[in-house]
Amino acid sequence: MKRVAILISGSGSNMVALADSMTGDHPARPVLVLSNVPGAGGLAKAEARGIDTAVVDHKAYPGDREAFEAALIERLDAAAPDVICLAGFMRILTPRFINHYAGRILNIHPSLLPKYKGLDTHARALSAGDAEAGCSVHEVTAELDGGPILGQARVPVEPGDTAETLAARVLPMEHRLYPAVLARFVTGDRTPVALP
Ligand code: GAR
Repeated sequence: MKRVAILISGSGSNMVALADSMTGDHPARPVLVLSNVPGAGGLAKAEARGIDTAVVDHKAYPGDREAFEAALIERLDAAAPDVICLAGFMRILTPRFINHYAGRILNIHPSLLPKYKGLDTHARALSAGDAEAGCSVHEVTAELDGGPILGQARVPVEPGDTAETLAARVLPMEHRLYPAVLARFVTGDRTPVALP
């Protein structure tokens, strides 16, 4: 059985989708949900599912990203994860962290990469007049939002869309895409998933 750790910073809806997918004959199980934000909504959702949780608060390491990541690595290594899923984890990770788990970190990003790396993806898609938007799951490498794409889901942009309405259309697709990619990834299958 593959062991999956999930890193969150907020409400954890993608974490829930991932955790709830890992049941029955799925080849993986969630072993830890870790947040850098104390009180993040996703922590209670993980606890309700009986998943171990942890908090490594980046604010406890002001100006010292190295010490923050050392604490993160220590807690994660204690859970011996085979795969680490970033699910709305809003801290940039350094090459030191990424190299420690090379080839084992996935991220979900709310754009059709390589478009709109970074923040405010939906607003940027609307400003650009894009006809479609979506989300991507990719392997995490040292380049921000730049690793190999393992799956994408597309939605249409509708007239009158705001960043909020577009996000509300993309999020349910995130919840389908991420479990679909993870299910392949844990078996060593890196064939990209395309939704719908
Ligand atoms: C999701 O939309 C995810 O794609 C995005 O944050 C949200 C987290 O929601 N991630 C990023 O923007 C990463 N740069 P959730 O906590 O409900 O899963």
